[in-house]
Amino acid sequence: MKHLLLICLAGLLTNGVRAEGQESALYKDAGQPVEKRVEDLLSKMTLDEKVFQLNQYTLGWNHNVNNIAEEVKKIPAEIGSLIYFESDPTLRNEVQRKAVEESRLGIPILFGYDVIHGFRTVYPISLAQACSWNPELVKQACAVAARESRLAGVDWTFSPMVDVARDGRWGRISEGYGEDPYTNAVFGVASIQGYQGDDLSNPNHIAACLKHFVGYGASEAGRDYVYTEISPQTLWDTYMLPYEEGIKAGAATVMSCFNDISGTPGTANRYILTDILKNRWQHDGFVVSDWGAIEQLRPQGVAADRKEAALKAFTAGVEMDMMNQCYDRHLAELVNEGKISTDQVDDAVRRVLRLKFRLGLFENPYTPVTTEQERFLLPASIQVAEKLAEESIVLLKNDNQVLPLSKTAKIAVIGPMAKEKDHLLGSWANHGKAEHVVSIYDGLEKTFRNQAQLIYAQGTGFEEADKSGFAEAKAAAEKADIILLCLGEKKGWSGENASRSTIALPPIQEELVRELSQTGKPIVLILSSGRPLELNRLEPLSAAILQIWQPGVAGGNPIAGILSGDINPSGKLSVTFPYSTGQIPIYYNHRQSARPNQGLYQDIPSTPLYEFAHGLSYTTFEYSDIKLSSTQIKSGGKVTAEVTVTNSGNMDGAETVHWFVSTPVSTISRPVKELKHFEKQFLKKGETYTYRFEIDPLKDLGFINGNGDRFLENGTYYIKVKDQQVAIKVD
Ligand code: GLC
Repeated sequence: MKHLLLICLAGLLTNGVRAEGQESALYKDAGQPVEKRVEDLLSKMTLDEKVFQLNQYTLGWNHNVNNIAEEVKKIPAEIGSLIYFESDPTLRNEVQRKAVEESRLGIPILFGYDVIHGFRTVYPISLAQACSWNPELVKQACAVAARESRLAGVDWTFSPMVDVARDGRWGRISEGYGEDPYTNAVFGVASIQGYQGDDLSNPNHIAACLKHFVGYGASEAGRDYVYTEISPQTLWDTYMLPYEEGIKAGAATVMSCFNDISGTPGTANRYILTDILKNRWQHDGFVVSDWGAIEQLRPQGVAADRKEAALKAFTAGVEMDMMNQCYDRHLAELVNEGKISTDQVDDAVRRVLRLKFRLGLFENPYTPVTTEQERFLLPASIQVAEKLAEESIVLLKNDNQVLPLSKTAKIAVIGPMAKEKDHLLGSWANHGKAEHVVSIYDGLEKTFRNQAQLIYAQGTGFEEADKSGFAEAKAAAEKADIILLCLGEKKGWSGENASRSTIALPPIQEELVRELSQTGKPIVLILSSGRPLELNRLEPLSAAILQIWQPGVAGGNPIAGILSGDINPSGKLSVTFPYSTGQIPIYYNHRQSARPNQGLYQDIPSTPLYEFAHGLSYTTFEYSDIKLSSTQIKSGGKVTAEVTVTNSGNMDGAETVHWFVSTPVSTISRPVKELKHFEKQFLKKGETYTYRFEIDPLKDLGFINGNGDRFLENGTYYIKVKDQQVAIKVD
């Protein structure tokens, strides 16, 4: 695929001579308030200089096969931002030096990149992270990513992706935090806090970017870049919450989405980008378009050419043009034609400059040069990645306690994922390296060394219809007490532009399961994927199923730790596993049917194979009845719900309690239940802990309408935990 090796700064500078006296200019004075520095600098800028600040080109080798754009022949020193594809700061510093030291105003360039789940220390994909139900741990992981990014020369990540998604055919379901709005909000906020910390000028922090605003996960039929039918009601009760909470948490930037939102593409949608984001939520950062999303307004049929696309996107509220070559070519022209005012341009440039000042780029424009060892894969960083991998693994099935394995077993380790490394990194891990990945087999060797006999056979590839390895696999199984069958997806089968018509594994993999089931040996299915999978044919053939997702560099040891019983699994699903692709969309917080017992499928079950929040442990947890501090509440009052949980098994373990709310009657029909709070606690065997949910009636019991107004109605509401509920009356 065509790689873009972009000629770094061609030594071409728009104005080689620095304006006299800038050294003492107010905007150079770090002691001045940011807003004063912004205004001072803005007052000195020409229209051309302002327009360049609103553009982002690329620099370095572009590994992203989806982002093919015209070669940028030169990089003007006044460019606002560059997507930086390298992993060391040398090239960045070279380009930055020209911009800072030889241009007229010395405005530093903002370097961005897709650091989605780690830079070199790659940790689990976001969909897996949410299964940990441990936002604090995700925050730590994002802090690791921020430090590595900054040392690599990246000041700004295009992350977190907080798109609620309910269709596993859509490859990008892997990049968000699952099907629930509240879950995406909590983990989106944790990511922003991890990336940005409490001081953006800290050299270990980077600016975050909430994306893709908004509703990208509703892509029709799981295809990418397509139409999304989103009513105002659904916009607000399903897709907006993660963005609203992310803005409250201080997200520096937002990325506009590709998708057409019920007739108005997100990148030309003034309602979301200005009326809501800027006016109602008062966001003082900026919006960057997705790659090509402005130019794509043409094929989406709302712009005749790049110039009209530039006008529509800019007036809707997109401040920065990512690789469209629309703003750089047409914005000044549109100003001169009076179609865009200088005030509008100034507001956009103000937002970009504000972030650059906040990041400290004027004081510290250059990245310190360090060695790879100093930059990446610190032991403490790998520990965080390993812990997050451990807590994101979900034990879906464990019949007759076939797990944990006894350490004196003969274990057949079979399948294309058994020794695989690269695919465990998942999508959007371009700076991750397979050589740093601990494979499943590596982990097993380390954990079971001298205690069990491992008998390996690959059995099959990922998708080729080639059964030549079956005999060897069967022979390995015959010699063993138990089969660990490691299957799953290639990393390129999920992520961007990676839609699949079915969420089942390729036929050859399913055939291997059937073949090995004939040996009569128990099969433990170990699955690595970037999406929920269709397992209805494999589930009956498997004694146990462990969903390991795409764990990044450090999955092998926790996987083996769980299989051996050294670790008690604690992951619970952030997304529903449908019984089959034909059920999609299927998700827990659905509306009630008019005839709950009719309208069901005639040919398959109408319930999922594994529900949202499903996940098994090696121990047992006993729940007390839910207690309420009051069963009556006035609007504005508070009620505390609590449930006491005891680890009644014979193994320590962590338990997450999910608190749901439901109401049978409401002016606007509501989901059968909605997640409003969750808490994870580690309980030693025999230990008891009381989980509490401080209920804020409007936020937790109320609902939202199609104008984004939250309301609370009198009536009866139910607080649900697992299979119990208690009523609370609002009047
Ligand atoms: C891609 C993706 C977006 C990413 C951007 C830059 O097309 O849609 O998520 O941040 O372009 O790579």
